Amino acid sequence: MRNPPSSALTVARPANAPAAFLNDVLSGLAGTQKAIPPRWFYDEVGSRLFEDITRLPEYYPTRCERQILAKEMERIVQLLGRSRVLVEFGAGSASKTAELLKHASVAEYIAIDISGDFLRQSVDALKDRFPHIPMHAVEADFLQPLELPASVRQRGAAGFFPGSTLGNLSEAAAVDLLRGFGEALGPDAALLLGVDLLKHESILLPAYDDSRGITAAFNLNVLHRVNRELQGNIPVCAFEHEVRWNERLSRIEMHLRAARDMRFRIADRCFSIQAGETIHTENSYKYTARDIRLLLRAGGWNVTGQWTDANGYFAVLAAERIALTCARD
Ligand code: AVI
Repeated sequence: MRNPPSSALTVARPANAPAAFLNDVLSGLAGTQKAIPPRWFYDEVGSRLFEDITRLPEYYPTRCERQILAKEMERIVQLLGRSRVLVEFGAGSASKTAELLKHASVAEYIAIDISGDFLRQSVDALKDRFPHIPMHAVEADFLQPLELPASVRQRGAAGFFPGSTLGNLSEAAAVDLLRGFGEALGPDAALLLGVDLLKHESILLPAYDDSRGITAAFNLNVLHRVNRELQGNIPVCAFEHEVRWNERLSRIEMHLRAARDMRFRIADRCFSIQAGETIHTENSYKYTARDIRLLLRAGGWNVTGQWTDANGYFAVLAAERIALTCARD
């Protein structure tokens, strides 16, 4: 079979919005604990609200990750290797990418995100700043199997997965995703990963329940999105943003709590919810340094570098793909 030309990107279809969204919402709201998966936060409005979150004083992860990248850039760039194709998973605003592109030797940049219009704007802005680097915006759900252009395997790739998005997945899904990254990036790949570390709930809770209510708006937007895109009539103003620290599972949980008994409709299906009942919308796992090394190992990656910010709130890790011959070690 011939390889596709490098300009033709063969990737998983973009999460085919209506069908996949409808399916997730209908099945999620039929369960005992109602739930909507967090990937549906990121329509245009949700992506912009998330950008606002990253600038909040309470939301430390973005600031900490930037600090680490700035301080450790020289070593990071060495570990990523020269003339690689940089593949960013869940690029969104690609706000940390410019720093990498400025310092690393990157032959090509591929940005993957589920929110296509938002991503294309981000990549266009990067193209203006780095006109010598070929760039592609790929609208795709990176949780689905990805087939990347031949250049990725020919030149060797460096994956970039910042922002602790890995923490929005269960342990099993995180391991599968890390394995999938390895398969998509090829045998000699490197990976740069940002993860949020375990810390006291007095710091965690405000980061997900800020005083300006931006995170609340972000959480509630998923219900507005259901109404907009799936012909729903959910009375959104009767739901409240709720954040819980689940110590046993080491994760922040976001929920939408019903303030009263309600009935509503989504695409001709009727649902009811009782006062006090919640829709679970997101988990955000917080790791120890050991947890994340083990997770990477299970996902087929060996850690080659690990750095934290001055407070030890956040970690950036560099990893290399484990060669198949030593996978038994
Ligand atoms: C994208 N992700 C890593 C964010 C997080 O911290 O889990 C999403 C988020 N949810 C609320 N605030 C930020």
